[in-house]
Amino acid sequence: MMAKHATILWGHSRLVVLLFIFVLHFVTYSCKSDAEILLKLKESIADDGALSSWNDSKPPCNGDNGNWVGILCGNGTVLGVKLENMGLRGVIDVDVLKELKNLRTLSLMNNKFDGSLPNITRLVALKSIYFSGNQFSGAIPNYVFDGMFSLKKIHLARNKFSGEIPQSLTTLPRLSELMLQDNKFDGKIPQFQNGILKLFNVSENELIGEIPRSLRDMNASSFSGNKDLCGAPLESCAPALSIGTIIIVTILVTLAVAALIAVVVILSQRKQLPEQEQATVSPPGYRKAFSTNLNKVEQGTASPEHGTNGKKGNNNMKLIFLQDDREKFNMRDLLKASAEILGSGIFGSTYKAALNGGQAMVVKRFRHMNNVEKEEFHEYMRRLGRLNHQNVLPIVAFYYRKEEKLLVSDYMENISLAVHLHGNTTRGRPCPDWPTRLSIIQGVAKGLSYLYNELPSLMAPHGHLKSSNVLLDRSYNPLLTDYGLVPVVNQDRAQEYMIAYKSPEYKNNGRITKKTDVWSLGMLILETMTGRFPSSFFQQGSKGNEADLVSWVESMVKEGNTDVDRVFDKNMGRKDKSKGEMTKLLQIGLNCCEEEVDKRWDLKKVVERIEQVKEMDTDQEYNSRGLSK
Ligand SMILES: *[C@@H]1O[C@H](CO)[C@@H](O)[C@H](O)[C@H]1NC(C)=O
Ligand SMILES: *[C@@H]1O[C@H](CO)[C@@H](O)[C@H](O)[C@H]1NC(C)=O
Ligand SMILES: *[C@@H]1O[C@H](CO)[C@@H](O)[C@H](O)[C@H]1NC(C)=O
Repeated sequence: MMAKHATILWGHSRLVVLLFIFVLHFVTYSCKSDAEILLKLKESIADDGALSSWNDSKPPCNGDNGNWVGILCGNGTVLGVKLENMGLRGVIDVDVLKELKNLRTLSLMNNKFDGSLPNITRLVALKSIYFSGNQFSGAIPNYVFDGMFSLKKIHLARNKFSGEIPQSLTTLPRLSELMLQDNKFDGKIPQFQNGILKLFNVSENELIGEIPRSLRDMNASSFSGNKDLCGAPLESCAPALSIGTIIIVTILVTLAVAALIAVVVILSQRKQLPEQEQATVSPPGYRKAFSTNLNKVEQGTASPEHGTNGKKGNNNMKLIFLQDDREKFNMRDLLKASAEILGSGIFGSTYKAALNGGQAMVVKRFRHMNNVEKEEFHEYMRRLGRLNHQNVLPIVAFYYRKEEKLLVSDYMENISLAVHLHGNTTRGRPCPDWPTRLSIIQGVAKGLSYLYNELPSLMAPHGHLKSSNVLLDRSYNPLLTDYGLVPVVNQDRAQEYMIAYKSPEYKNNGRITKKTDVWSLGMLILETMTGRFPSSFFQQGSKGNEADLVSWVESMVKEGNTDVDRVFDKNMGRKDKSKGEMTKLLQIGLNCCEEEVDKRWDLKKVVERIEQVKEMDTDQEYNSRGLSK
């Protein structure tokens, strides 16, 4: 979240940033001398005498010269602390360092410092950090580089850092040197802007995936020794299967299975049939059905050539765009695009397709979407296509065939909330912290509220709200997807699988209400705050199980406030100063999950309450306010 704010701030104007730094200088101005500050810093460092010149006999600076070892001076003040090759251990007290108001450079190269990266976020004026050759370890949280707009050089090589390379590094406008070699970073290399990095090295890590285009001119040795990196300047990535191929393969496999079943059925019938009928019934009929199917596939999806030129295919191949301001591409581009399966849901699979221009789109296949006729479907899609809100993912285009529909939308860099809550943590995806989760929930609430206003005729305007349908863009801004589909999905499918139909009111009374999406939102809040997956979503026809997460949270919250900590996802961090507000959000979640619809809050109230939740506790009274409903 800080990243987002920082980016916005940057976008506003550099003036604001300069002002900010100026004000910060002013506020942090202290009467302590540089000597006092450095001696305080020395207290937490084990130096074995290496810093003995740091004593009261002389001041640290004499004009532009340093009297103390490792101190860089300018005009009598400390500009840099350069403690290299000294066998130092211990702790770098950043709170003390931040009082050196002119500190531009901090070097701890080749010592024995360990633990996590010192939180340099507070040293706003810093231009270079050289921490290479230590024992620092663990993942680097994204916020460490947020707002560090002066940073030019970051050297973290030869440590034991793990997790993903922080995205926030890509927001630093002046970054020219980034040395991360010989660590244990994993995941993909984030997208750096073109041309700002002069020195870059990520060799000897555990990185995977394609090297971003902006780094293709770097030396190949900057990328060597990684797990699975590809693309220029290394060898090109194995050509990904094209989406056309994937679809053809899927369809052929389905057909093959069908054919096998047909053969089995035919063979078993054969046994029962009188001799003379056998010849007419089986082989020709079966062959005919198979080839018609194959033809259909070719005209419909598989072969763009037939589709665009052929007589029958013409209608079939048309991708209908719902957004005027978008660059147009056609079905042929989409089929040719290299694609990657993102997941397979209950309605069909989801693919990421990279178009020729490098733009990534997501293509979702929907089967079982024949609740309305073709004309009505087109009309309805146009209506959904007109929706426009920052928390609602626009449908860019769609493709209609009776057997299946494709919905095309933009690819979101951070995939979905579900991935971040339940994804494989060893892949090093940063787990969203509390402020991020709060802002995600606030965005979801806004998006939902917008859908309620724009689709008033729908009982459940979203209908399928769950963490995998909350997509996250590169700044973790949430966007709802798969909304408004209840009217077009086959009713039996909808009732069996869609989240709205998992609600207590549907289970108890067989109906959904205007408060059903509120219940889904409540479940989403509990899932986001606890990190626990509401398992009942996956179990079809389970009765009353959806209450599991709810009753667990309820019991934890009621047991007494001291225990409430255990409810929160451990990966969320930052608890002490925010516990009251976190509990508030949890309580809102519980209110949304109220089984009795009459007692459940309506969306308007829920949105209001969620808006009121703050990142930090504004008072410390939550302990006495009580937590039961
Ligand atoms: C204090 O620093 C000076 C150099 O500035 C050094 O010569 C002297 O030995 C130091 N004193 C002590 C007690 O370490
Ligand atoms: C020191 O101060 C002088 C005059 O105030 C200025 O011209 C010079 O750039 C300063 N030097 C440094 C290293 O800040
Ligand atoms: C990157 O680091 C590796 C390992 O330390 C080294 O062998 C290689 O020469 C470096 N490449 C560049 C371009 O700095």
